[in-house]
Amino acid sequence: MNGDSNTGALPTPFTLRLLEQSDVAAVATIMAANSLWQRYGVTTATAASRLHAGLESGATIVVAEVDRAAAGFVWYVAGGAFQRSGYIMLIGVDPGVQGQGIGHALLEHAEAALFTATDSIMLLVSDFNIAAQRFYRGHGYLQVGAIPDYVITGVDELVFFKRRPSR
Ligand SMILES: CC(C)(COP(=O)(O)OP(=O)(O)OC[C@H]1O[C@@H](n2cnc3c(N)ncnc32)[C@H](O)[C@@H]1OP(=O)(O)O)[C@@H](O)C(=O)NCCC(=O)NCCS
Repeated sequence: MNGDSNTGALPTPFTLRLLEQSDVAAVATIMAANSLWQRYGVTTATAASRLHAGLESGATIVVAEVDRAAAGFVWYVAGGAFQRSGYIMLIGVDPGVQGQGIGHALLEHAEAALFTATDSIMLLVSDFNIAAQRFYRGHGYLQVGAIPDYVITGVDELVFFKRRPSR
């Protein structure tokens, strides 16, 4: 994978498509290798099991494919927040290709799909995940709340919200 994102190299080409069973190992590895999800106790096995369960239940999980392998993903749920707002549940990109617009493309894809059915999107971001908070704010999300100790003790889950931009 091209990790030269900050040296003036061309961005790594990628395409977006739905997650398939054969992608589960790569996506689970992205999750388990990330210090964010490690803090939540995620392992390759637990991530793979969650992804398999998602596939079986018809979840919408889109991957960014680089060199014929999944290098990023987004999992989103129509009406997933209060049966009213779309919910972006998980998004992640392989560290080797971060900072090249793949996360942006995944988020935009999820937003375009969710905004066909709702006029708002919600997501949760950890209080310590400053980089992701900046990423979301840069895409128009505002913090509207915080839930202390919601998923793990000692961490606030910040509630981020975005309305469909007016056309
Ligand atoms: C958050 C995350 C999904 C973003 O993915 P990404 O592919 O790095 O996202 P992008 O490349 O689109 O944007 C990242 C930054 O690179 C910049 N960027 C995008 N394309 C670029 C390019 N061609 N050249 C230089 N910089 C670029 C963006 O402006 C952005 O800056 P910002 O974070 O200050 O807003 C990724 O960092 C990640 O997987 N993080 C760990 C998991 C995580 O925190 N998930 C969110 C949980 S709530």
